[in-house]
Amino acid sequence: MAVILGIESSCDETSASVCVDGKILSNIIANQTIHAAYGGVVPELASRVHQQNIIPAVQQAIVNAKVSKNDIDAVAFTRGPGLLGSLLVGVSFAKSFALAKNLPLIEVNHMQAHVLAHFIGETKPKFPFLCLTVSGGHTQIVLVKNYFDMEIIGQTLDDAAGEALDKTSKILGLPYPGGPLIDKYARLGNADAYPFPEPNIPGFDFSFSGLKTSILYFIRDNVATDPQFLEKNMADICASVEKRVVTILLNKFRKAAEKYGITQLALAGGVSANTGLRQGLTDLCAQKGWESFIPKFEYCTDNAAMIAIAGYYKYLDKDFVGQDIAPLARMPF
Ligand code: KG4
Ligand code: ZN
Repeated sequence: MAVILGIESSCDETSASVCVDGKILSNIIANQTIHAAYGGVVPELASRVHQQNIIPAVQQAIVNAKVSKNDIDAVAFTRGPGLLGSLLVGVSFAKSFALAKNLPLIEVNHMQAHVLAHFIGETKPKFPFLCLTVSGGHTQIVLVKNYFDMEIIGQTLDDAAGEALDKTSKILGLPYPGGPLIDKYARLGNADAYPFPEPNIPGFDFSFSGLKTSILYFIRDNVATDPQFLEKNMADICASVEKRVVTILLNKFRKAAEKYGITQLALAGGVSANTGLRQGLTDLCAQKGWESFIPKFEYCTDNAAMIAIAGYYKYLDKDFVGQDIAPLARMPF
């Protein structure tokens, strides 16, 4: 039996999970609400809140999984990429726990873990598949050849998709994180009300900064002539923005699948919680006769279950690291 404790602290979620023989038995996620007032994550505050949350989160994960601390065989942790101060809390905790219990340590790449969240549960994609990983910090099309053999074939040249949604929501006067709120308003609006531009970027790369600027000017000009413009049209604006972000993402994803001849398409990362994107991928795959893989909501945004499952596959390969390991704000695949 392999019991893996997973720890995630790369951004503003403190999370702990217990995985037994590839099954997730608990996944505790402590969200940090403190950032809402600042319109974005404040790194110093994030690391302080991680320090408060990490021990209760781990304790709860162990209790919920109905295991004992002494049953744990290895500790898997997010090494990067992420905010250095946030990562440091999870890495230090994982190292201390492993040292105290004489356990092996397993480093996990956060972006690979988002992809490997698809191996939680019954319906798993087969290699090779394509994964569109869309979060607050990243937008990547990943060719997944094996558990830890992944190639980024396209990525954003500027803002990430989640960042574009969060910045748009700030322009609209909505609190952080804006992605879920844009999703909520979009369900009530007309997605064809305002046709925002689609950038013309070669290959499988993305760009969202032009879209952000056009939304900014569009809002500025309309509010200048009608101060009530935002309140009156919030749902239509959100629906139109969401539609454009989704079409930018899925047009590239479809082209990549056609070029690589891949018929299994997966979504990962926080933005994969988006209703329009989930529906869009489902429709695309139905139309093409392809298979879509969409994670459960709790495994879309940052969570330690994905770290624990990635750790489980590394545990099977005895892929361990030493106590001298340090976090990496930037961590390539
Ligand atoms: O993967 P994640 O939890 O953290 C990072 O590693 O960045 O992704 C967070 C991002 C944020 O930009 C948030 O606005 C976005 O995911 N997000 C959503 C939704 N839920 C979270 N975007 C659109 N619709 C949602 N329902
Ligand atoms: Zn993430």
